[in-house]
Amino acid sequence: MSAGAHILVVDDDEDILRLLGMRLQARGFRVSSATSAEAALTQIALDPPRVVVSDVRLPGRDGLALFEEIRTTRPSLPVILLTAHGTIPDAVDATSRGVFGYLTKPFDSQLLLEKIDQALQLGASASRMPSPESGGEAWMEGIVFRSSRMAELMGEVRMVAASEASVLIRGESGTGKEVIARAIHRASPRSRGPFVAINCGAIPEQLLESELFGHVKGAFTGAATTREGLFQAASGGTLFLDEIGDMPTALQVKLLRVLQERTVRPVGAIRAQPVDVRVLSATHRDLDAAMAEGLFREDLYYRLDVVSLRLPRLDERREDIPLLAAHFVQQVAGKYGKRISGFAPEALEALATAAWPGNVRQLYNVVEQSVALTSTPLIPASLVQRALRVPVMEALSYAEAKQRFERNYLIQLLKLTDGSVADAARIADRNRTEFYRLLQKHGLTPAMFRSDGEVQAGGA
Ligand SMILES: Nc1ncnc2c1ncn2[C@@H]1O[C@H](COP(=O)(O)OP(=O)(O)OP(=O)(O)O)[C@@H](O)[C@H]1O
Ligand SMILES: [Mg+2]
Repeated sequence: MSAGAHILVVDDDEDILRLLGMRLQARGFRVSSATSAEAALTQIALDPPRVVVSDVRLPGRDGLALFEEIRTTRPSLPVILLTAHGTIPDAVDATSRGVFGYLTKPFDSQLLLEKIDQALQLGASASRMPSPESGGEAWMEGIVFRSSRMAELMGEVRMVAASEASVLIRGESGTGKEVIARAIHRASPRSRGPFVAINCGAIPEQLLESELFGHVKGAFTGAATTREGLFQAASGGTLFLDEIGDMPTALQVKLLRVLQERTVRPVGAIRAQPVDVRVLSATHRDLDAAMAEGLFREDLYYRLDVVSLRLPRLDERREDIPLLAAHFVQQVAGKYGKRISGFAPEALEALATAAWPGNVRQLYNVVEQSVALTSTPLIPASLVQRALRVPVMEALSYAEAKQRFERNYLIQLLKLTDGSVADAARIADRNRTEFYRLLQKHGLTPAMFRSDGEVQAGGA
């Protein structure tokens, strides 16, 4: 189960990274490393690991801040923290907030391996739920609803889960498309296999192909080793292609071939290899319009959309609002270390009647802001109304917001300039040294964004 599992190790001490890398690789793990929280987040977005092992002390944002961000963006990704001797109270606190485990330095590598194994097993057992046939409902865990619209949808989920059919999940932003994709996997006969998700819109085109299909050593500059792609990583399980509407047309052809032939050819490889993967995809875009404009291939669409599920908007299922709000209050109160009893009646009224353009995600954000700001256990209506006036915004610290902005800004600039640091630095009005430093801070390499002359053999 854990053979070849991908582990991300985060430490600013390069010696420790090298040492841990060697030990874990010797055990058959695939190891990637990052020297800062920012670099780790970028890597997680590009190539999600099964477990993160991070030092608590990092330059800039520390390991706990990294954990917090992972917990909100990828709650099922286990994080193991390494702490210096004597800082155990912090670590205990972290464990109670949901860190998977911690080890004090200098640690025993056997202990670390055991922790990693446990974390991998937990990830697997989270998906090793009773199958629908056995009557178990555990695959629905964490999915909150009361509306008949959602009950109907869950019935459909249960039915499609049993088949191997490709499912296209549609719905506006924040309606719970990823939640449903995970539920299909958990309720399916593949639940013991991996669930691998990739956001097709978040990865530069040139990188996306090798992310999906893998590459052989030397396939392009920077391809120092042969690496398997997500299709191979999802073998025996489910691959979730999120934001499929954002997939570049050139790659759509290649994806179509994979789905037709059930084989993938890594970039630079001569031979294709068989893959056993169920494909789920999701989009908030109107694919019919995209097809009409020639931006999305019809033949691929029919392959992906064997079964269609549509998530209702939150304003189409208002009965779910109080339940979801209560569920999120419990989740968030822990994070802020507050004892909250719930919403005042007028506050609930405000929640129940709001417009919710950002759907469930916005509801979560409104609950989070209200919990953060309330000074009484019963959240007053004024706070809810205030949070509702802020258009779809997450409660971030200034530092976090700035970091995020900076990272996205740099990614956009590099996309725009095709990975040219000289051009990007000029637009940013920074000298190249400064610009390189910024890229380094976020774990970005210009080569990720280059599309010219990059592929030497066989690929593109
Ligand atoms: N029925 C539900 N019960 C509990 N939590 C939910 C439910 N639906 C959505 N959520 C939560 O709401 C947030 C948004 O859900 P999700 O990421 O699945 O939406 P999405 O449709 O993929 O959004 P986007 O288009 O923005 O990617 C997540 O934090 C998710 O856990
Ligand atoms: Mg999503």
